[in-house]
Amino acid sequence: MGEIVVGLDIGTTKVCTIVGEVRESDVYVLGVGIEPSSGVRKGIVTDVGALSAAISSSVHKAEKSSGYEIGRAFVSIAGGHVESLNSTGAVGIANSRGVQINDLERAMDAARAITLPHGRQVLHVIPRNYSLDGQTGLRSPLGMLGFRLEVEAHIITAASANVQNLAKCVEDAGVYVDRFILNPLASGDVILTPDEREAGVMVVDIGGGTTDLAMFIDGSVWHTAVIAVGGQHITNDTAAGLHLSSDLAESVKLKYGHADPKAVSALEAFPIQPFGEELPSKVQRTDLAHIINARVAEIFELILKEAKRSGYDGLLKAGIVLTGGSSQLPGIKTIASEVLNLPVRVAQPENVTGMSDALKNPAYSTSVGLLKLGLIMDLEDDRRSAIRKKRDDAGAGERVAKIIKGVFGRLLPGEEGE
Ligand SMILES: Nc1ncnc2c1ncn2[C@@H]1O[C@H](COP(=O)(O)OP(=O)(O)OP(=O)(O)O)[C@@H](O)[C@H]1O
Ligand SMILES: [Mg+2]
Repeated sequence: MGEIVVGLDIGTTKVCTIVGEVRESDVYVLGVGIEPSSGVRKGIVTDVGALSAAISSSVHKAEKSSGYEIGRAFVSIAGGHVESLNSTGAVGIANSRGVQINDLERAMDAARAITLPHGRQVLHVIPRNYSLDGQTGLRSPLGMLGFRLEVEAHIITAASANVQNLAKCVEDAGVYVDRFILNPLASGDVILTPDEREAGVMVVDIGGGTTDLAMFIDGSVWHTAVIAVGGQHITNDTAAGLHLSSDLAESVKLKYGHADPKAVSALEAFPIQPFGEELPSKVQRTDLAHIINARVAEIFELILKEAKRSGYDGLLKAGIVLTGGSSQLPGIKTIASEVLNLPVRVAQPENVTGMSDALKNPAYSTSVGLLKLGLIMDLEDDRRSAIRKKRDDAGAGERVAKIIKGVFGRLLPGEEGE
């Protein structure tokens, strides 16, 4: 029997609440609530009332279908305001006792101690790798002998105002934010294989308002980024190019859209009813494909730029794993591999059981991932606070010992000055 937890994925196009039991090999879904989103643009809250109402209905649906009352949840976060940086922290190791968990924690504390610009806060601090006395690239130096331990950590930060607005929307809907989790970390947790993480891979979650990416190298998070472009931009381009309303452009995109004009027959055409025209007209499918291709290629060029910035060269042996609603666009794989020159696959959550039919789709990778990663992060935090408590207790013990010695020093003549 696993633990029952709740994931609340607040996307630009949909809000998805899942109540599920996280087991060793799968997530058993007890209830789901999916609602159209409102009041979010490019991952940023623009209308607290509208978003809070959408969250509320999604949560109620999930409560009804699961029979559980939802008090707290792991909540997704993205948006162009999310940034990441790398930081190192170094500590000394006491003579010849080998590196202990406590030392790893102290090194992480040192890496965490960065000065953030005003108005920003830390979302995640993730160890990338360790080095001991100059020996670099260590996954876990536990038990190894050395004097100077260094950790390189990946720190993800967000604009506090945006985080607070999102928290307010969730809390107004009666749910406590257990923790915020960056979208692509959650997606990565359900769609990547351990082999891909080891070999080097990049998760690209192309949603409605944002494209979220996370690179995993040697099993750990190497780099993360959020690009404020997604499927809604493809719809907007379609609307502008073919003179259609947004709703019509969205359905035309879903029905006839293709990212690769080379793969579409020049003979194919479909009917549309443009603004201001009396009669329907016909559009060549290749024309639509050219409109879509321009935006999709731009998204992958931005991804390439971001990946280069992180120093990825030659490190992504397992290539790219695409997910998110927009990864279902036909031809997207071809354009991704043309621009990035890497192997590409499209993925969706697989190890979900129970009431999971709707969730077996790339749009729900983040939603399912929140439950798994949220629980892992909670357990990790419990372990850390246990270590901290032990460390503090040990510190308190030392102080007590000193005071007692001082008292005895005063009480016992002759001991002073020894
Ligand atoms: N078959 C399809 N072809 C092309 N695009 C699709 C298809 N199905 C869904 N989409 C697009 O996927 C997008 C929604 O994806 P998703 O549900 O992952 O976004 P979200 O999580 O709400 O948004 P975000 O994470 O960016 O805030 C929409 O723009 C939609 O048009
Ligand atoms: Mg999303």
